[in-house]
Amino acid sequence: MADNTSGRNVFVIHGPNLNMLGTREPDIYGHQTLEEINSALKAQADRRGLHIETFQSNHEGVIVDRIQQAHDAFDGIIINSAAYTHTSVAIRDALSMLTIPIVEIHLSNINKRESFRHTSLIADIATARISGFGAQGYQLALEGLAHLLSIEG
Ligand code: DQA
Repeated sequence: MADNTSGRNVFVIHGPNLNMLGTREPDIYGHQTLEEINSALKAQADRRGLHIETFQSNHEGVIVDRIQQAHDAFDGIIINSAAYTHTSVAIRDALSMLTIPIVEIHLSNINKRESFRHTSLIADIATARISGFGAQGYQLALEGLAHLLSIEG
């Protein structure tokens, strides 16, 4: 499906330990690997005519570097900053510099879990959040971001 979002560039950032999806606490995070999630996102982006780049790092500073580089290169961001969601002022500050839509995503419903996961340092600067839909949440996030980009014109 091609609409006025065709050709837009989307950046998907996966934070620490998400490279272990598939084997990492599958009762919480599901059985899909990060590679499978990324492939499904790429197929969905292709169908929509969107360009997508995916990136994973276990290192806070590396994620900050990539967010800084995203400034001119992307029209929207989907980010699962994983454990850094709850701790990283540096990632929050890097995202705050962007003027493009930011979709925060979590596989699990972070508000149903331990209290330290209830605080997201990026919640109030994100445009939208998806949490608790497992791997399917990434597809919802891309659909939602495409919608935001289409109404933005
Ligand atoms: C997570 C939730 C975080 O609390 C946790 O540290 C993660 C993954 C999620 O996708 O549910 O690593 O962001």
